[in-house]
Amino acid sequence: MKRIIFLTLLAGLLGCALHAQNSSEKQSISFRSAKKAVLNVSVDGQPVKVDWYVDNYVKYPNRPQDQLINVYVPENATKSSPIMFYVNNGGWIANSYSDHTIAEGSDYNGTYDRVGVALKEGYVVVSYGCRSRANEPVDGSYLGHSPATMTDTKAAVRYLRHNRKALPAGDVEKIFITGTSGGGALSTLIAASGNSPDFFPSLHEIGAAGVSLEKDGTYSSDPACGDNVLGVIGYCPITDLGHACAAYEWLYGDTRRIMYITGEMKYPTVDENSVLSAFAALAEQYTGYVGGLGLKDEEGNLITSANLKEYISGLMHEEIARTIEEIGAEQMQKDIEKKTRRGNRVNNGWLVFNDDGSYEYDLDKHLYYVAKYTTLKPAPAFSNKGLFVTHMNEDSLFGSAEVPYCPFNEYSWNNDKEDNGVGKDETCMSWEEYMLTEEGRELALQIKMTSAIDYLLEGTSDIAPYWYVRHGMDDRDTSFAVEALLFAAIRSNPKVASRNVGFAWLMPHSGDYDVPEAYSWLKTVL
Ligand code: DHB
Repeated sequence: MKRIIFLTLLAGLLGCALHAQNSSEKQSISFRSAKKAVLNVSVDGQPVKVDWYVDNYVKYPNRPQDQLINVYVPENATKSSPIMFYVNNGGWIANSYSDHTIAEGSDYNGTYDRVGVALKEGYVVVSYGCRSRANEPVDGSYLGHSPATMTDTKAAVRYLRHNRKALPAGDVEKIFITGTSGGGALSTLIAASGNSPDFFPSLHEIGAAGVSLEKDGTYSSDPACGDNVLGVIGYCPITDLGHACAAYEWLYGDTRRIMYITGEMKYPTVDENSVLSAFAALAEQYTGYVGGLGLKDEEGNLITSANLKEYISGLMHEEIARTIEEIGAEQMQKDIEKKTRRGNRVNNGWLVFNDDGSYEYDLDKHLYYVAKYTTLKPAPAFSNKGLFVTHMNEDSLFGSAEVPYCPFNEYSWNNDKEDNGVGKDETCMSWEEYMLTEEGRELALQIKMTSAIDYLLEGTSDIAPYWYVRHGMDDRDTSFAVEALLFAAIRSNPKVASRNVGFAWLMPHSGDYDVPEAYSWLKTVL
């Protein structure tokens, strides 16, 4: 019976969404008109009732079937409970609205599962859908390019503040945003760019709460409806996309070349010369970028490409020392040599424990160990759509609404071969020339709007004071260099009050593997 009532309510909620999809009428973003259902779940076998609300979070959605927010209020939540704000954004793509964040009848683990912990502690859980680069064009316009995903996420945060009085529980000044990979990048971007005016025009366009267009053509933001958050729990953020290809080649170029020559790695669809020249040219670009950031290590030394490997090694040492304390060298050795689908892993000497309790770590051997068991991305790793490198890429995050995608770094732009209106081949402009044009400046802003590090370095937005970020030591989806610089930017930021950021012992590309640790950190900062 309960199931039938629940399904009827669900059908009602979806009906509301479909109605909106077929109309361009202004939507209410008042929580008072949100649809409500009651979910019966359990945590560690104990029953918990959860009030589930669904609403529009923007007045003028252009993808109403996705621009919906879920607010889940467990029975033990209060007006001062924190709000756990879940982004999905897997692959920088999957942002569809889902009504399954907390599912009727499920039993959650109250120690290891983030939903279980939230329900046990009485935290409000929020999830939402939003536009993404994977959306099909509307009347020939690609509306999912940057900043659509970030803008929608900010609009959902604004919705919560706009409705602070009507929310039955949850403190809108205690929003913690959390996500993994593409979602880790999105979470850290939101945490770094609170109330940044870069997003005001796109927020205004969709009717997000609290953003107005003034008579003089400027935008203003109502401080009561801001999009800043209190903290972030982020995993393996695929961030700093503008430099991610270069960072990948800078770090993994030699590893790949060695594996290519020894035949341990093959690129069946790309000829050898194009791969080798791609990584040489890209690696070169990264050297100038790193030194120009002005980031400093804990001792106050400038981080440059000459010492970045040392800085990365230092961060690895931190995690190795911590893990020795936690599980001991013997277990770590077993972790290194664990059996996987690809067979037994071998410790190639990247981490050697000595009899006297000391150890030696070698970053280059570590890179080889990672690459040996998870094939590296081809070069260029993130912007390769127009180069016919058959691999996942992020190109469709960028470009004007008229083009399906846009290469987003110098190498990829200058070498684009596809017939789609962008790249040097069709504009007859080199990347350098293009970036001086109006369109080039718009592209630069689109790239910036995906990248936490840009906002952390700029320092003018309402940066979240609390940061918990992890990237696994067995994760090759982005360069350790990207994450190390992000960690440095968080650690040295004067607006960051508490941070717990670093590499995670032999974790692959994944998230939420350390729920007890992450959520006890959260309790300490609350
Ligand atoms: C994700 C993984 C990637 O390798 C990438 O480039 C972007 C996103 C992800 O898992 O979300």
